[in-house]
Amino acid sequence: MNDDEHRTPGLSIRPVTEADIQAVVDLWDEAGMTTYASADEIVEEVTTKMARDPDLFLVGEVDGVVVATVMGTFDGHRGRIKRLAVGRDHRRVGMGGQLTAELERLFEARGITRIRLEVWAENVGGLAFWEHRGYTLEPDIRYFVRNLGGTSDPC
Ligand SMILES: CC(C)(COP(=O)(O)OP(=O)(O)OC[C@H]1O[C@@H](n2cnc3c(N)ncnc32)[C@H](O)[C@@H]1OP(=O)(O)O)[C@@H](O)C(=O)NCCC(=O)NCCS
Repeated sequence: MNDDEHRTPGLSIRPVTEADIQAVVDLWDEAGMTTYASADEIVEEVTTKMARDPDLFLVGEVDGVVVATVMGTFDGHRGRIKRLAVGRDHRRVGMGGQLTAELERLFEARGITRIRLEVWAENVGGLAFWEHRGYTLEPDIRYFVRNLGGTSDPC
């Protein structure tokens, strides 16, 4: 079954707005995605991203409540997906798939032909989700990072 057939009743997907910031931060908290930074830094991350490619930062709403997010970025060459999160009470009904499908459509409309993303190795559910969606693990790439300015951001 593909995502167009697997629609979740009541889910509407739209670009994030400033009014969503706290709901987004709360959702990321619940999903365990904010342990590396303070609340203020997470708010700053959301607002900074909203100023860049705001059309690629999507939220999913049910009955006017934000229950899912995904952040797309474009570096001029590849699309990258970050911050896919679905609230605990709304998982396994296709919302993650629908949000991703919408972001893929937006990437395609920009002429982007390849998407990259990172998943923590211990995130069994996340790995299963991306494999289910047809993403392939790239065993030949190692991921290098370096922090600048004395920061300790682990992501
Ligand atoms: C990963 C996540 C976004 C999936 O969202 P979701 O809305 O539940 O995903 P979907 O309902 O679209 O799942 C589609 C398929 O992916 C697979 N899948 C999704 N979550 C899974 C899990 N926890 N374990 C195993 N398979 C899973 C299944 O094959 C599922 O189909 P099925 O429910 O018919 O079996 C959600 O669990 C989440 O927010 N997790 C915490 C944050 C996170 O890890 N984000 C990903 C970072 S890379």
